[in-house]
Amino acid sequence: MSKVLIIGAGGVGRVVTHKCAMTPDIFTDICLASRTKSKCDAIAAELNRKISTSAVDADNVPELVSLLKDYQPDLVINVALPYQDLTIMDACLEVGVNYLDTANYEPKDEAKFEYSWQWAYQERFKEAGLMALLGCGFDPGVTNIFTAYANKHHFDQIETLDILDCNAGDHGQHFATNFNPEINIREVTANGRFWENGEWKETAPLDVHRSFDFPEGIGPKDMYLMYHEEMESLVKNIPGVKRMRFWMTFGQQYLTHLRVLENIGMTRIDPIVYNGQEIIPLQFLKAVLPDPGSLGKSTQGRTCIGCIVDGHKNGERKHYYIYNICDHEQCFEEVNSQAVSYTTGVPAMIGAKMMLTGKWKGEGVFNVEEFDPDPFMEELNTNGLPWNEVFLDKKPDVLVD
Ligand SMILES: NC(=O)c1ccc[n+]([C@@H]2O[C@H](COP(=O)([O-])OP(=O)(O)OC[C@H]3O[C@@H](n4cnc5c(N)ncnc54)[C@H](OP(=O)(O)O)[C@@H]3O)[C@@H](O)[C@H]2O)c1
Repeated sequence: MSKVLIIGAGGVGRVVTHKCAMTPDIFTDICLASRTKSKCDAIAAELNRKISTSAVDADNVPELVSLLKDYQPDLVINVALPYQDLTIMDACLEVGVNYLDTANYEPKDEAKFEYSWQWAYQERFKEAGLMALLGCGFDPGVTNIFTAYANKHHFDQIETLDILDCNAGDHGQHFATNFNPEINIREVTANGRFWENGEWKETAPLDVHRSFDFPEGIGPKDMYLMYHEEMESLVKNIPGVKRMRFWMTFGQQYLTHLRVLENIGMTRIDPIVYNGQEIIPLQFLKAVLPDPGSLGKSTQGRTCIGCIVDGHKNGERKHYYIYNICDHEQCFEEVNSQAVSYTTGVPAMIGAKMMLTGKWKGEGVFNVEEFDPDPFMEELNTNGLPWNEVFLDKKPDVLVD
């Protein structure tokens, strides 16, 4: 018997809600809350079991506290925006509820995300006897768990880790982002950063790129070095890695549009005055771009996200690739969403299941790689995100330096 409160009725929230509803033995009661209640009701109407819905402004701690007191969940799954992480954690502490999210906190007025703000809650969650599980989507999330799995079963010491995120899907739009446009564009336009020999090194945004031949017929795609949040916790929790990098694929059409939008100032996050009213250009841009949640119907193709690891086991050099392939159309058939929301929402549901069944437990604030990866990896296979592992003869040439 467990009650879960899902906050955020966007693309990811739809998948988490569907997936929790499909697991009634664990998630006996579900409430979906968001700023706009009608969005929760629309998702609830797609399900074949009854859930409750509610309106909540997750920027407002007293409003959250009142909802938590009223509903009394065992766990909050936060799939609103990274801006709301701290207010939701504050409310969970006040009422005594466990917490899970998929993206680390980011202040609205600065395009910067890091775990420091949430790791600072460690003592408070510990003292309250509560657990907060951070970054339990795909990347961060499954990529951390893939790394922990490789570290547990195949390596004595990981030397290099390359995380490769490929969306080989096509949504038929001139320009659209696969998840919240504001968060996505802030991430993509930031400087690249990677870990090498004990320090972070910076690159200009999307400056370093390589072509990688993705498996199972996806084929060669251009991928770009970016900073991504899972590296911050992996550097800490999987020590001794000499180099860690994150790569994401982008098509030329996406990059050309993005460059134009940046050049004309539409990706700015500082306020400008328009018709006597302050607006933030990036928020305005979000309002005119397609809602990622609406792209499911038209998106075709597959995603391939995984980790290429090399290092040593029993004195022998090993090269290893672990990945998941996810089909946009199959996701839509199952839960009315495209694969980017699906690959985030399924791990959030599995993480919640790990917490509610006590397979992962602790008091304090945790990243997913701190727990035993095995039960989570089993759940991926049975909940729509099967993975593949291959040992390579050598590290792919494009990742050598
Ligand atoms: N780890 C990963 O692999 C991964 C990948 C993709 C996305 N993510 C994360 O997943 C989260 C959701 O992404 P998404 O694509 O689903 O975004 P989305 O479609 O924009 O949905 C976000 C939802 O949050 C709600 N929301 C925003 N501000 C709120 C507030 N103050 N109070 C209550 N609800 C609020 C919005 O509600 P209304 O519509 O009602 O305004 C919206 O429905 C984001 O944090 C994103 O960074 C993680």
